[in-house]
This record gives sequence, structure tokens and C-alpha cells, in this order.
Amino acid sequence: MNYPYVSYLKVEEKNLAKNFAEEHELHFASPRQIRIAKGIKPVIWISQEKILLQDLDDKNSKPFSIDLDSLEKEKGDKNLLNKCFSKFDKSFLVYDLTAGLCQDASSIASMGFEVIAFEKESWLYEFNQRCLLDSKIKKLKLINSDSLLSIKKAGKKDILFLDPMFELNTKAFAKKEIQFLRKCIPSAPEKELIDAALNSKAGLIIIKRHKLSKSQYATKPSYIIKGKVITFEVFDRRTI
Ligand SMILES: C[S@@+](CC[C@H](N)C(=O)[O-])C[C@H]1O[C@@H](n2cnc3c(N)ncnc32)[C@H](O)[C@@H]1O
Repeated sequence: MNYPYVSYLKVEEKNLAKNFAEEHELHFASPRQIRIAKGIKPVIWISQEKILLQDLDDKNSKPFSIDLDSLEKEKGDKNLLNKCFSKFDKSFLVYDLTAGLCQDASSIASMGFEVIAFEKESWLYEFNQRCLLDSKIKKLKLINSDSLLSIKKAGKKDILFLDPMFELNTKAFAKKEIQFLRKCIPSAPEKELIDAALNSKAGLIIIKRHKLSKSQYATKPSYIIKGKVITFEVFDRRTI
């Protein structure tokens, strides 16, 4: 069974939801079928105007979308991203190899960088496209493909940014958006993507990590920017 479920909030939009499920090879179910189902219950609600996400395992959860324009204003670890990227020239092209919900990609684009973000899950790509349509973000181009196929194109004036789904045995600190992704997208071995990035010609590689996940690669980062919950490992090869 492929999670998340796809469903509808208004009966008139049942067919829209059915078509979305079919297109993305996900499991269509009515709200009632989801309510009585066993197992985990992440849901995509399809409507004419919006795509909403909700984790029905959490009794207090509400359907949510993402306001990409408001992200820059958020405090905390988002500022760490700012701190990390403020060191680099805006003429660098950023490849976000793991777009997810495009929160980091949007924040980086809002800083003034041109960003190409890759997301392999087609339903998530579609959700992001809707959020992008509602936003003022201009410098972000989203592509629905495996980023492994594009890493070779990166050169000295490019930044590769990675935020893989690291294996973690704790829910601590994870925001509802990331918890939703964790339920729907199994953590894949990060090694292949990180190795490909480190073997590329990119001038800068930045790996976002939860502080509880361990680095496993041979090359040491040039420096690490540490926050309370996340860290950015920076491999700076601009002078090599
Ligand atoms: C932890 S999430 C990234 C969250 C993201 N930084 C954000 O701000 O929303 C990881 C995402 O990377 C995607 N992903 C993992 N490997 C990928 C690959 N090789 N190509 C494209 N997307 C990939 C997963 O599908 C998942 O959505």
C-alpha cells in the first residue's frame, strides 16, 4: 500500500480525488473508509482550489497547506539557513537535490539565489506546484525527477543542497510537515546521493542534518554550522 491516502472534503469533488490517486498511484478512500481503516493515516485532501495534507493519526491535526511566502519571517533554525547562505555570492546557482515541501528551497530563493529543486515523488511535486502558484516566489524552479540524474551538470559556480530523510528513531523536534513526509516517504539510503554530490564538480555542497543523525562519509566538511536541532555541513571546494 502506498501512503498517503487520497480523499475529498466535498462529495462533489470525489472524482477529482479519484483521478489524483490514480495519476500518482496512491490509495483512494472515502473519509469514512479512512476513519475505520487500520494502520497509519496520512491523507491528501483534494479540492478544486487547494491540495491539503493532514495526519489523521494525530487527533488534534488540521488539514494544512504551506504558505511559502511566510517562511522567511520564521525564526529559529530557518535563520541558520540564512546564516549559512549569507556567506555565498548570489550568482551561484543552487540545486536543491531533496525538495520535500520546498520550505528550504523557498527560503533560499527568497534570499536572492536562483534555485532548481528536485522532488522525486510526483504527488509531492504537484502539492508544491500549487503552493508555489499561491506564492510570490519567482526564483524557484521545481522539477519532478530523481536528482541523481542531474548532479553531473553541476559545476564550480553551483551549490548542491541536500536534506535527505535521515533514519531517526525519535519524533522529537520534527515539525508536523516533516512528520507527514516521514510517514509517506520511507527514509532511503542517503549514501548514494551524498556520494554523488561529493564526487561532483560543484563548488559548494551543503548537507542539512538533524543533530542526532551521524555523518558516515570519509571526506570531512570544511566547516559545520550548528543550531539547536539541525546542523549544516559545508564542503567548500571553490578554491580547489
Ligand atoms: C527531508 S525531505 C526534504 C525537506 C525539505 N528540505 C523542505 O524544506 O521541505 C527529503 C525529500 O527529498 C526527496 N528525495 C530524496 N531523494 C531524492 C532524489 N534522489 N531525488 C529527488 N528527490 C529526492 C524525498 O522524496 C523527500 O521529499
